[in-house]
Amino acid sequence: MARRALITGITGQDGSYLAEHLLHEGYEVWGLVRGQANPRVSRVRQLLQDVKLVRGDLLDQGSLISAVEKVRPDEVYNLGAISFVPMSWEQAELTAEVTGMGVLRVLEAIRVCSGITAARGAGSGQIRFYQASSSEMFGQVRETPQNERTPFHPRSPYGVAKAYGHFLTQNYRESYGMYAVSGILFNHESPRRGAEFVTRKVSLGVARIKLGLAGELRLGNMEARRDWGFAGDYARAMHMMLQAAEPEDYVIGTGRTHSVRELVEAAFGAAGLDWEQYVVCDQALHRPAEVDLLCADPKKARTQLGWEPTVSFEELVAMMVEADVALLAGGGDPHQDSSWP
Ligand code: NAP
Ligand code: GDD
Repeated sequence: MARRALITGITGQDGSYLAEHLLHEGYEVWGLVRGQANPRVSRVRQLLQDVKLVRGDLLDQGSLISAVEKVRPDEVYNLGAISFVPMSWEQAELTAEVTGMGVLRVLEAIRVCSGITAARGAGSGQIRFYQASSSEMFGQVRETPQNERTPFHPRSPYGVAKAYGHFLTQNYRESYGMYAVSGILFNHESPRRGAEFVTRKVSLGVARIKLGLAGELRLGNMEARRDWGFAGDYARAMHMMLQAAEPEDYVIGTGRTHSVRELVEAAFGAAGLDWEQYVVCDQALHRPAEVDLLCADPKKARTQLGWEPTVSFEELVAMMVEADVALLAGGGDPHQDSSWP
């Protein structure tokens, strides 16, 4: 019998790469989708025809219990979240509910459906759980590079909600013996990245300028530094974590850091353009509190899981610019369902 995986956040960037990877590994893949007429569901149906869908919402405990009961998964990947950091200041309570409390609801759905109590442990053959934790939890970093033991100092309501989900995942592992792990993933990008995140905003901006559809690109803090990798590599890491003999948390990143300015230089350069003629710095796009520097120490994942990134920063930027030039040249709309490469 094929192993079954249930993915929350199937309509997002990571959900798509993870579903592709698990289908390739022979899994029966189920995706949790919310809403009565979620426009992103048709995109999933187009790209991932073999994925089965089940309705549910991270805000609704009963729906998660029903989904786990229906799917009877071997593995659950909780990728669903409000994931755009600036939105977490505008809708802090909703972010806490979805990104933070949503983790509790998924863990409880697994616990209840598995009949686990404080007196009756999880035992063998249990459902394995993956939580999408984030390098945003490190926030104002205490050391560089950051590893699994680096203390957290989140700088946004999103980072605080992720830290709650992270500690709760550890707690369910320790309290109930559940196979529950957190991947502390650094920024990962692709041509499927949401248009609101800086890498995609830049690759789309470059494509518009290259094609004569725009004359400038407005950006916020150009000095922030991130460890940017390719999302497909990171989806593979999620799956590897759940195959380990013991449930443990892992940092996933490339170990290289670049500033937004360097990203911009590379992206405009990939299209043969001089960024200084087009980029406008806009104070309104700066954040109330910034994460200045993220850089992963992925040694544990490399030595214990054998995980390695396969796409360099330069290759990633070139891949995204090329994809967006082709998309816009073909009349595609990055906000439309059919535009997902
Ligand atoms: P994304 O593209 O923003 O996708 C977020 C997903 O969450 C969407 O499928 C969305 O579905 C779903 N969602 C939102 N609210 C929900 C709710 N109430 N109930 C159920 N699902 C809901 O994010 P991503 O980049 O793929 O990231 C995946 C996960 O990894 C997120 O938890 C993110 O915080 C975390 N993470 C990402 C990165 C990164 O660099 N990409 C790094 C570290 C951690 P709808 O279509 O219904 O809106
Ligand atoms: N989005 C955006 N738009 N960011 C900008 C802009 C802009 O116009 N100008 C500068 N930046 C800077 C931000 O201030 C931030 O320092 C950096 O670019 C990266 O911003 P995002 O791409 O929005 O990503 P993020 O680092 O805040 O969060 C992403 O990575 C986290 C992991 O570290 C998201 O995917 C989170 O969900 C994820 O947890």
